[in-house]
Amino acid sequence: MKIIARAHTNIALIKYWGKADSSLKIPLMSSISMTLDAFYTETEFTHNVDLANDMVIMNGKAVNDQASYRIINYVKKLQDIYGFNDHFCIKTENHVPTAAGLASSASGFAALATSFAASYNLNLNRQELSRIARLGSGSATRSIFGGFVEWQKGYDDQTSFAFPINEHPQMDLTMLAVELDVSQKDISSTCGMKIAQTSPFYQTWLNRNKQEISEMESAIKNNNFTRLGELSELSANEMHSLNLTAMQSFSYFQPTTITIMNLVRNLRKNGIECYYTIDAGPNVKILCQDKSVEDICKAIHNTLDSVKIIKSKFGPGVQIINCD
Ligand code: DP6
Repeated sequence: MKIIARAHTNIALIKYWGKADSSLKIPLMSSISMTLDAFYTETEFTHNVDLANDMVIMNGKAVNDQASYRIINYVKKLQDIYGFNDHFCIKTENHVPTAAGLASSASGFAALATSFAASYNLNLNRQELSRIARLGSGSATRSIFGGFVEWQKGYDDQTSFAFPINEHPQMDLTMLAVELDVSQKDISSTCGMKIAQTSPFYQTWLNRNKQEISEMESAIKNNNFTRLGELSELSANEMHSLNLTAMQSFSYFQPTTITIMNLVRNLRKNGIECYYTIDAGPNVKILCQDKSVEDICKAIHNTLDSVKIIKSKFGPGVQIINCD
């Protein structure tokens, strides 16, 4: 029987953008995300395999590149922690279309951590899974849970993990991922957040984190879409301002990114409530309610006619799927 783990990716509403410890991926701030139903990764981890080398098979093809080194090094780190050293094979299928402009590392490392633990019968609870997913990629920490999720920054390996705020939210919330550019980004998240720490506004942003987290928790608790949207857009604007004001100033925005940001602001002025959020790339994600989806898509296509828009709602936490 095959043991496959499925994890959904997530979009940060209050952003993680900087580490206190790069090797353990302990963040300098807490963050809050929404797990997404439309995008996920499925991973099968097998060990004790009769192989001379460890193997990574992505979407049906054996890979031997930068991404596979990161994956193999991550598994070796976990093997060191739990006292194993046998060879392994990782088969992973990504259902995160590049078109969505969403990183697959969140769902990828959450699925890998879970399949690793299942394959070695480690019996880890979800808090522990969240901690070991963090060692692969910070945002993966949150993908262990569904719905609205908070990653408490903590101060060391034991205390930095995510927990669910509400795994089955009733909020009328849709995320529209607008595909503007799917080419590989020049500055990875890992690198971008390091450069951002040189901004003179970085400390100010950190000082605001506690309040932003608590306001977002209240917005979620009170089912307040407007406040959730305002806080999400603000957090994204703050993160991108740090990049612009860093010693080596940079930006993930492209002209079309700004076009969509302006479009969202104009829609709001015209009574269609929506907010944007942007990660480490040029693509824009729009937060809106069901009733506005059609108008927003129409407005986008009137401005940029051929862009793809992918809709997503709340997704579940990580699952183990047993297949014959
Ligand atoms: C902008 O989790 O990709 O998406 O921890 O270095 O692997 P590493 O970075 P990563 O960074 C995600 C940054 C972000 C914001 C977020 O998801 O909170």
